[in-house]
Amino acid sequence: MKITKTILFGVLIIAVAGFQKDTMNQFDIDANLDYCAVQAEKTLAAMPDTLAIPRNIAPGSKQWRMVGYDDWTSGFWPGVLWYLYEYTGDVKWKKEADKYTRFLTPLSMRTATDHDLGFQMYCSFGNGYRLTHNKEYKDIFVRTSDTLARLYNPKVGTILSWPGMRTKMNWPHNTIIDNMINLEMLFEASKNGGRKILYNMAVKHAEVTMENQFRPDHSVYHVVVYDTLTGKKIKAVTHQGYADESMWARGQAWAIYGYTMVYRETKDPKFLDFAHKVTKVYLERLPKDLIPYWDFDVPNIKREPRDASAAALVASGLIELSTYTSDKKLAKTYLSKAEGMLKELSTSRYKSNNKNSAFLLHSTGHYPNKSEIDYSIIYADYYYIEALLRLKKLKSEKDLFVPLHNAEQTAMKR
Ligand code: GLY
Repeated sequence: MKITKTILFGVLIIAVAGFQKDTMNQFDIDANLDYCAVQAEKTLAAMPDTLAIPRNIAPGSKQWRMVGYDDWTSGFWPGVLWYLYEYTGDVKWKKEADKYTRFLTPLSMRTATDHDLGFQMYCSFGNGYRLTHNKEYKDIFVRTSDTLARLYNPKVGTILSWPGMRTKMNWPHNTIIDNMINLEMLFEASKNGGRKILYNMAVKHAEVTMENQFRPDHSVYHVVVYDTLTGKKIKAVTHQGYADESMWARGQAWAIYGYTMVYRETKDPKFLDFAHKVTKVYLERLPKDLIPYWDFDVPNIKREPRDASAAALVASGLIELSTYTSDKKLAKTYLSKAEGMLKELSTSRYKSNNKNSAFLLHSTGHYPNKSEIDYSIIYADYYYIEALLRLKKLKSEKDLFVPLHNAEQTAMKR
């Protein structure tokens, strides 16, 4: 009898300890979103008098390096502000988001200099339109989509990513994997009064990229160079990765996020199938803590810097992908991996806390160019807060793309 009681007591202790451990491991999404708001307040307080966009912070520094509206990263800061408005419903964030969004307006009035228009105008005006239904925002991203579409080459079937590289690198028509993200603006424009051909171009771009930009294991090449006359592929190379044949972490992350988004917009199962394939190779090759080194094939990898931006954008993409997956076990795996990534990013190893006013440390921009190595970078912050919001919505069984709550109404109550 005494032995049975002792065993029962032991089992109880183990069960309570297990429960406490689980509770302690619970990921507090709101606490991390609140943290983002505190950090962004600090950034706003340190803004210069003339309008500029925070892009990055060097290790050890507290100061953002500011850029103009034409920098490729200019949409992420207004995007962060829109997400904070979505989270809090506080009109002060809306005012700031609107101010920095409008700062980018000139980009809608000039010729496209590269594919980045989608990053710039959709993270800003697109999010603004999603949350406010302000027609002015919509008109601007629809107009910009027509501008971006001028870079589309029908012979190849993709958008020219970097016009400047035609002569600089002798890459007549070049398409980089990052370009997948800019298709979102074309899809949204065609749904919101823009031309139907924008949708067709986006679909064709995704198909041609799927055929030409991947190795048999579904790891991605950063750049594919095409012949403008025949439309045929000339070669596949890297620009920001370690080597032509290596798997550059953010490149694979753009592919995961990009094909998931293309499935959302088209509902074509071939894109969903492809999103699973590009995800599989990434997840299989990740280190245990789920944050990739900047390139998966760099020698002496454990001594190399990480790329928190890739982790944040994969977390966001995986949360979305988990909602399209009928295989319950796989959906659960995606979600728990995404949560694991966000948990790790939310530790003091990756959070900036008092080191600077960004959300995250340890992103790598362009290693071969020796730029932004182990920095805080604004797009890591953008995808981190986006992923947190997506997770919050998913946990409360809400649609990922419908505003968290009616931010307009909440704002009016204040
Ligand atoms: N789109 C540029 C980059 O990912 O660095």
